[in-house]
Amino acid sequence: MQKLWGGRFSKATDKKVDDFNSSIRFDQRMYKQDILGSIAHATMLGKQEIIPQADADLIVKTLGEILEDIEAGKVEFLIDAEDIHMNIEKILTERIGDAGKRLHTGRSRNDQVALDIRMYIRDEIDEISDMLKKLMHTLLSLAEENTDTIMPGYTHLQKAQPITLAHHVMAYFEMLKRDLERLADTKKRVNIMPLGSGALAATTYPLDREFVAQQLGFDAVTQNSLDGVSDRDFVLETEFVLSMIMMHLSRFSEELILWSSHEFSFVEMDDAYSTGSSIMPQKKNPDVAELIRGKTGRVYGDLMAMLTTMKGIPLAYNKDMQEDKEGVFDAIDTVKLCLPVMTDMLATMKIRKENMLRGAKGGFTNATDAADYLVKKGLPFREAHEVVGKMVAYALANDKALDEFTMDEFKTCSPIFEEDVYDAISMKTCVDGRSIIGGPAAETVKKAIAAGKDYLE
Ligand code: ARG
Repeated sequence: MQKLWGGRFSKATDKKVDDFNSSIRFDQRMYKQDILGSIAHATMLGKQEIIPQADADLIVKTLGEILEDIEAGKVEFLIDAEDIHMNIEKILTERIGDAGKRLHTGRSRNDQVALDIRMYIRDEIDEISDMLKKLMHTLLSLAEENTDTIMPGYTHLQKAQPITLAHHVMAYFEMLKRDLERLADTKKRVNIMPLGSGALAATTYPLDREFVAQQLGFDAVTQNSLDGVSDRDFVLETEFVLSMIMMHLSRFSEELILWSSHEFSFVEMDDAYSTGSSIMPQKKNPDVAELIRGKTGRVYGDLMAMLTTMKGIPLAYNKDMQEDKEGVFDAIDTVKLCLPVMTDMLATMKIRKENMLRGAKGGFTNATDAADYLVKKGLPFREAHEVVGKMVAYALANDKALDEFTMDEFKTCSPIFEEDVYDAISMKTCVDGRSIIGGPAAETVKKAIAAGKDYLE
């Protein structure tokens, strides 16, 4: 096949090189962005009288038809037409001849591909933000139903202090809220229009860049033609935010995997969100959560791969940069695969409230509150800490919880203890006493949930 750039060549490209060089396999998914970009470019070329208005009109009309044909599955892309940009230009020229050949005036594939990928990512950021919001709504519902569901909070995966499931879930809400903001912030830098950068040194044609930007819904135009074609920081930033989202989903997944183990039994995944074993009849495995945790690795990999690709390439465009696409597409696809399953897995999961409460009671999670009780009655904190430490040792030796001590046992540990200690170290008091902003008390968490709802509105 005659290449669109074939003029100076006297020999055909080796078949292996065609296959190696070609990106149509993966960049064809940008067909719509490519066509919309070309429509805006052609419209501008006509308006600026750079090409005849009749040609511009014909290009715009035909590109619209090509878009419809692609969406109807009537178009076959060719490997040796290399990429989506040249495939579409080739189809256009086959349909309308010389007018089609005028489309690429004042443009390079270098600024064209930068445009397409920016438009593609911009649209995906919107979709991912919507999915993230759905997950956040689910977290709010889960929290709302569990403001009184006491569970142990952990540090070092050792039981620490009692909290509620709502408080735990709302921690993830806060993380995802920042991710949502990071996506919106990234979009500001993605949504800048690079056309007019040309191959690297802009162009002598009087292009109206602002007009193209406006037609395509961009917020501004790039300010340096070298930068416009040769940076991919916006790709990397997107991959970073997607990595961050996956990191958050992965931590929560890890907890759900632990919580659904027999040892914890805090939650039970719905049958529709679990899998069995081909050999062990008793098994019910949290594969969905495990896969989310596992897929986090590939998204990090996409980020690291592109950071490494970019680190040594001189300005301006280099073909290395074609490697940006598979990674960012993979990261986007992976996050879009994970968010809805995470959402539905959480929405259908059963909470074992009794086990959570038993877990909270079992691990001396009220020891801090026992010490604080003594402090409030006048003992210095370090001494109170010592007294309660000894109580824990005694309780361990006698296999009981602190609130199961008899009054005599309390008095032996410290004469300061009185009858009101039972209420002071009950799980409910421990939680509800922590009512300052950010604390786990039901009233406080209810306010956080209400603020979360307002935020999502
Ligand atoms: N397929 C190429 C890419 O994805 C388009 C730009 C090619 N430009 C060039 N001068 N070879 O980066």
